Order: sequence, then structure tokens, then C-alpha cells
Amino acid sequence: MNRPYDLGILGGGQLARMSTQAAQRMGLKVACLEHGTDTPAGQITTQINGFLTDSHAIAEIMELCDFLTLENEFVPAHMIRSACEIAGRDEDCILPGIDTLETIQDKLLQRQAYARYGAPTPKAVPINPDDPKSAMDAIGFPCVLKARFGGYDGKGTRTAMTPPDFVKYEDLWKQGGWLVEEFVPFRRELAVMVYRSKTDTGVFPTMETIQTNHVCDLVFPSGTDARAVAISAVEAVDGYGLFGVELFETERGDFLINEIAPRPHNTGHYTLDWGGISQFEQHVRLAMHFPCEKPVGQDCAMANLLGIENAVDWKNGLRQAMIDVPNCHVHWYGKAESRPGRKMGHLNIQGDNCRDLADKARESFYRGWAAPGPDLG
Ligand SMILES: Nc1ncnc2c1ncn2[C@@H]1O[C@H](COP(=O)(O)OP(=O)(O)OP(=O)(O)O)[C@@H](O)[C@H]1O
Ligand SMILES: [Mg+2]
Repeated sequence: MNRPYDLGILGGGQLARMSTQAAQRMGLKVACLEHGTDTPAGQITTQINGFLTDSHAIAEIMELCDFLTLENEFVPAHMIRSACEIAGRDEDCILPGIDTLETIQDKLLQRQAYARYGAPTPKAVPINPDDPKSAMDAIGFPCVLKARFGGYDGKGTRTAMTPPDFVKYEDLWKQGGWLVEEFVPFRRELAVMVYRSKTDTGVFPTMETIQTNHVCDLVFPSGTDARAVAISAVEAVDGYGLFGVELFETERGDFLINEIAPRPHNTGHYTLDWGGISQFEQHVRLAMHFPCEKPVGQDCAMANLLGIENAVDWKNGLRQAMIDVPNCHVHWYGKAESRPGRKMGHLNIQGDNCRDLADKARESFYRGWAAPGPDLG
């Protein structure tokens, strides 16, 4: 192959940006596909301007790049298939595989794949808008209602304690495309990055994740080992590439698979500063069909930097975090617009007390971000 770019990434957000940085360090030429200007990845590499739902735009980047991957699992699988036809490319030019993507895009197919494979996961059934009672009877209460397609950051997820609660959400599920699943009274939420090529399968450490307002924003070593279950999730969807696996840990210490993302994941950002290979480099190696490196590193915690109401200058936040916690490493995504709650960056800290230090550094960052800057003359 001799196309102008080595790697094409569907998407131009922060995951594409950090993957690009890893690829560029290796000397690879990267293009991304995203709509708009001044995008996180478009700031640092070639951007093809187009929508991820447009098969012609996907075909355009396919024609330009030897290998492709994605940062966003919502790119419709059938669009990627038709793009392959338009561009005259084999479907295996892209990782993750299109069939795997199709399974993951539907939370019901995902659950069914785990169940078929014998991987532990909450029981789930579709909600038939004409007969919701069958679904209630099959699952019982409490239960969790979920949109099968397109949910993220808890949007499209509702908990029902009783049948009237379930009915209360009728406006959502009566259109179709919803499932209901067992409520898991979990002790903690965990996440594991898994990689799998045709010759090599491996895992990064098991991390604990804390969600605030349905957004995962603090990640640190869990002290437990859910790696075997995480691998089974990837095998269940016949997945190749890099995957973020989200799990529940029950009171008894069992692990249940919640969901997987076929790409670098927020819960793997700590690997940028843990001393071993990062999730982004592993992702690029997989997409390029290079050998993987075994992930080994130090304990490290990650705190997301979310947009705040009274933001002034983020570089004042950066400075304040560095003053208060000198060994913190800030990664800023360069998003054109900051909105409250939006993921604008993250910081990582290695060491024994990393969870508390990440929290402290983030507080300092927010304090500095909201303050008028120092007069540096
Ligand atoms: N079956 C369940 N039992 C208990 N809590 C659940 C269940 N499913 C989801 N949750 C809670 O809701 C959160 C969001 O659910 P899920 O991860 O399925 O949706 P999402 O919108 O794709 O999330 P995200 O983009 O934040 O990963 C989970 O992190 C967990 O806290
Ligand atoms: Mg989730």
C-alpha cells in the first residue's frame, strides 16, 4: 500500500488527538475525519471535513489511508460497509471489525453476545411497546431501562424501582428501541483496557472508576483483578483491537460486564503517565498491525478536567495544579468551546497516594481556572 497517510481515524475529538500524538511520535502520518473547524485532532493533523454518518466522507478518508480505526463507536456499521464498497477497500482495513462494531452499537446484541459466550452480565430483554408487562415480568424490580442505540454519559439510562416507575418512562420506550435489564447493586464500578490481535491478547490493570453526574471522572488502581472477565467480554463480541471494558463489582466480589467500547477509553488515560506503554500507542500498533507491547507500569490515577461555570483562563488552572502538586501531568484537549461538565482535559499522577493527589490537583486546577491570572508582567 502506498497511500498518502498511514493511519486514518474516524473522529476528531480528544481520543483521536491523543492517538494521533502516539502515532506521530512513531513517525506515522495521520488523517482524521471530523466535521467542523478547530477540532482537537484537526489542530495537530490533517482533517478531512465530513460527517461520520456519511459513507462518501468515510470512503474519502479510506482512499487516503493505509489503515483505519475509530474513536467513536457510533459511526454506523452499515455506513462503514458501504464506504468500503465505494472506496474499493477490504473490510479488514479498519479495526475494530465492522461485525464487532455492529454488535457493540446495540446494547441488547451486546448483552446477548455475553450471555451466549457464558460471560457474566446482567440479564436483559427488549421492551415491546405493545406488551411492556412481559419485559417487567422477565426482569423484575428494580431494573434499568436503556436505549439500545446511541447512549453515552448515562443519557438513555433510567432506573425503575417499581412498575409505575417503568410506566412513567413510557414516552421514551414506546417509540421502540429500548431494553430493560437487571439492576446490579454494585459495590464499585471497574474498568479494564483489553487488547487483542490475531496473535496476542493482553490487559492493562483493573481500575476503579467514580462517576459524577453520570460522567466517569476519577480513575485509580482498584486493588482487584477483573482481567479474565474483561477478556471474555472482548472474545464474546469476537473483538480485535483495543477495548475499554466497564464492569460492576458486586458485594460478593463477583464481576459482571456492563459494556465495552471498541477504542481508547476515558478510563485508560492514566496510561499516558504510568511509565509503560499507553493505551493510545497500543491502539495505534493494533490498527497498524504492529506487535503489541506488554503493559507494565506504576500505580497512577487520572482525574478529568470538566468545564466549569466561572472559567477564566485554563492556563492559570494548569499553573496552579503544577504549583500545588508538582508531579501532576495535565493533558488539555484544545476544544474550541468549554461548557460546564464537558471533558476538556485530564490530569494524571503516579505514586502511592495517587487517588488523593489527583483529587487535590484537580481542585487546584479548578481554583486557578476560575481566578484572574497572576500578573507576570
Ligand atoms: N444494570 C445496571 N445496574 C445498576 N446500575 C447500572 C446498570 N447499568 C448502568 N448502570 C449505571 O448507569 C451508568 C451508565 O450506564 P451505561 O454505562 O450502560 O450507559 P452509557 O450511557 O453508555 O454510559 P457511559 O457513556 O457513561 O459509559 C453506569 O456507569 C452505572 O453507574
Ligand atoms: Mg458506560
